[in-house]
Amino acid sequence: MNTKRDPRRQPHLYGRRRGHKLRPGRQALIDNLLPRLRLAPPESGGVLDLDRAFRAPVRDVWLEVGFGAGEHLGALAEAHADIGFIGCEPFVNGVAALLSAIESRGLANVRIYDDDARRLLPALPEATIGRAFALFSDPWPKKRHHRRRFIAGDTLDALARVMKDGAELRIASDHRGYVAWVLEHVTRHPAFLWPARSASAWRRPPPDWVETRYERKAKKLGARPVYLAFRRRPRGRPEAWPGERNGAAPGVETGLGKTLESR
Ligand SMILES: C[S@@+](CC[C@H](N)C(=O)[O-])C[C@H]1O[C@@H](n2cnc3c(N)ncnc32)[C@H](O)[C@@H]1O
Repeated sequence: MNTKRDPRRQPHLYGRRRGHKLRPGRQALIDNLLPRLRLAPPESGGVLDLDRAFRAPVRDVWLEVGFGAGEHLGALAEAHADIGFIGCEPFVNGVAALLSAIESRGLANVRIYDDDARRLLPALPEATIGRAFALFSDPWPKKRHHRRRFIAGDTLDALARVMKDGAELRIASDHRGYVAWVLEHVTRHPAFLWPARSASAWRRPPPDWVETRYERKAKKLGARPVYLAFRRRPRGRPEAWPGERNGAAPGVETGLGKTLESR
């Protein structure tokens, strides 16, 4: 697992950073509120001090990558005031939408990295993230674009380093090719496992789920999203997770593999 930071090797961000011109109120939030909430990785290559970043003690830190317009992150932050939230999103219009929710709901527990999450991960301290979300990430359907997908070996190494033992990695998508890719990459990674034992584990979202904008759009178009909840294996303890059946191929017991083949 490569955990060294090389500031010269920055990943290339695909996708847009700007949409329509921001309304003056939203632009004011970008100019005035964002600088107060922005996480800035130390230029020296060290790690961030999250206690200082949140300015108040937090029970846990949850990370959302590609929060879009921030509905999911905003709702979770409001429901869990004792948890610190880090949201990564390079699309400025989405950042402005989340800032608007932060201001109107008086959320004090959200910090923002308005850039590529892969640049932030090396600057987070080891084993600090209790839950990570990558919801409806761009599926990059064309084969020649697959290497742009967020879930990949390097990113999983970086997530494995920052996630606590037993932490949850939630991934959802309505794109079957991307779901198959995620299952293959995450279950192949030695730090993660998928403890799902039945179809309800991926057909239905977890009980505390907040619907995202892309999820709503996908469902309107008739898609059936897949919800995957992986776990970060405890460090230095290779024994099976409670309930894990060693050697079971991903998706076999739960029927997801078959569903992906036939859909
Ligand atoms: C398809 S949208 C989904 C947005 C939101 N999660 C939802 O479900 O409504 C994917 C989002 O991921 C963001 N994104 C893409 N690559 C990213 C990266 N490397 N780091 C952080 N965000 C990224 C994009 O800007 C975009 O807003």
